Amino acid sequence: AHQWRGVIEEYRDLLHIPEQTPTVTLREGGTPLVESRWLSGLTGAEVWLKVEGNNPTGSFKDRGMTVALSVAVGEGAKAVVCASTGNTSASMAAYAAAAGITPLVLVPQGKIAAGKMAQAVLHGAQVIQVRGNFDDCLRMCRTLAEDYPVALVNSVNPMRIEGQKTAAFEIVDMLGDAPDFHVLPVGNAGNITAYWKGYCEYAEAGVSTKHPTMLGWQAAGAAPLVAGAPVAEPETVASAIRIGNPASWDAAVAAATESGGAFRSVTDEQILAAQRELAARDGVFVEPASAAGVAGMLLEHAEGRDLGGSRVVVTVTGHGLKDIDTALSTFSDLVDVVVDADTDAAAAAAGLR
Ligand code: F0G
Repeated sequence: AHQWRGVIEEYRDLLHIPEQTPTVTLREGGTPLVESRWLSGLTGAEVWLKVEGNNPTGSFKDRGMTVALSVAVGEGAKAVVCASTGNTSASMAAYAAAAGITPLVLVPQGKIAAGKMAQAVLHGAQVIQVRGNFDDCLRMCRTLAEDYPVALVNSVNPMRIEGQKTAAFEIVDMLGDAPDFHVLPVGNAGNITAYWKGYCEYAEAGVSTKHPTMLGWQAAGAAPLVAGAPVAEPETVASAIRIGNPASWDAAVAAATESGGAFRSVTDEQILAAQRELAARDGVFVEPASAAGVAGMLLEHAEGRDLGGSRVVVTVTGHGLKDIDTALSTFSDLVDVVVDADTDAAAAAAGLR
């Protein structure tokens, strides 16, 4: 019987990695494109969700991590390090466990979602909480990797981008061509860089006939690419994208500019509303940061942007179960309905009679 082999084996010929690279995989990638009946109906476009929460550790990071860890292992690394707002650390820890090497993680203290912390810890990472933000953690990790025998696997490592570009390949493979628009949340800006690389490579190879317009969405309190300058104290409920000085700044700006796209921002309220509506209307539960692109589509629809007749892919980057505290915090009214163990009482509370 056939099963999806993971992004290295599925796309090895298209990855620019050393030839003898071993494969450390958890069978990541091959994630579903789910048509959003809600967003398609609302906008008149054909809107697809690339559901990256279906990856092994629940986010798109696994695509980059299989490649970064495999190359690191091929080069003899015994330990890996990353800075993270949560998902990168969860992914790195899992792949390090699979590879049998040591994971070291630096995270902003008190600012990563509980599910992600649980993943990093259970996969065996040494987790160091830093009194600072993600940008501080990344700066520290860069120095650690220079001074000590630990390989850096943040997206400043080009192998991460190599792996993550496979999401664009999968989309073109599924749809038969590139979409007209690609919408996604942006934090450290590695993912928009990777998608653009993937789309460009497929167009150059003649697999696709066009490039999508790239629309990157940031949280209003952490929107350096919108402001055009780093943000010293980024703040947002979407902790995954609470980043003030994205590492892939130039490549991300190039992706937006070359594609005719843009960076824009949505408020925390818009993000949480989009998260909630996506879950309730389409059945797709994503974490807050992952809803930024959906919130952006809603905002542009409300502003009157006409996407009718076009084909749109929205990447939803991470699973809703990553951060249930934030999800439930908007719902205390509904989870607090309690009745005695009595069917009539339940029926009454449910409004059935
Ligand atoms: N969505 C989620 C769920 C993320 O975890 C991230 C980044 C992004 C979007 C933004 O992607 O950084 O490539 O622009 N999370 C990183 C982390 C920073 O440490 O997990 P980006």
